Amino acid sequence: MPAFEGTPVRAPRPFRVMLDFDTGSLTPYTDSFERRLSDMAVAYEDQDAVAGLLSAGQDPVIYTGYDADVPHAADHLPFRTTIINPGVIGSEFFMTKGHHHRRDTAEIYVGMSGSGLMIMQTRDGHARSAELVPSAAVYVPPGWAHRTVNVADTPLVFLAAYPGDAGHDYESVERLGFSRRVHRRDGGYELRPAAAPDREFRAGP
Ligand code: F6R
Ligand code: ZN
Repeated sequence: MPAFEGTPVRAPRPFRVMLDFDTGSLTPYTDSFERRLSDMAVAYEDQDAVAGLLSAGQDPVIYTGYDADVPHAADHLPFRTTIINPGVIGSEFFMTKGHHHRRDTAEIYVGMSGSGLMIMQTRDGHARSAELVPSAAVYVPPGWAHRTVNVADTPLVFLAAYPGDAGHDYESVERLGFSRRVHRRDGGYELRPAAAPDREFRAGP
């Protein structure tokens, strides 16, 4: 062993990870994340349902994920899996917080298992949705905020890859909300316009 090894210099080399399409595990991973209801209480429309669960000591894990060891730096392509548990808050399905990228960059999503819906919208009010199922790849163009919703009663598992200097802006989505919401209806899902007027989508600053 040399006495002094110095600060490790990060010089990424080609590598591979193993993906489990059923569980969403990514091996090896460097970081993992977990979002509970309390981390995203404002995201749900039915605030009475949120308050009821939290005050009863129920704080379900909405989603988890695993990050591959890729620098968040220009020229790199970080990628991660996300696993959204099945469930509803009121009648609204479990979903991700959703975000814009700080720099308007694109992203690619690949469905691995389960069944979901991606909700996407621009700052000037255009909205689109796309089903995310195994073998489907969904392209999110630059400038489109995106949220993923689990519309089935099994976990929704997917992979996403995005430019390393994209950055994530959660704040504007928290403030403005998404214009389309995904609710359980007759054993399936229904897309509804956002209900609460103060959380309706408006053009951001
Ligand atoms: C990365 C991306 C996804 C999400 C993940 C969790 O740009 O879009 O990997 O980060 O599905 O969702 P959020 O980030 O909205 O909590
Ligand atoms: Zn993203």
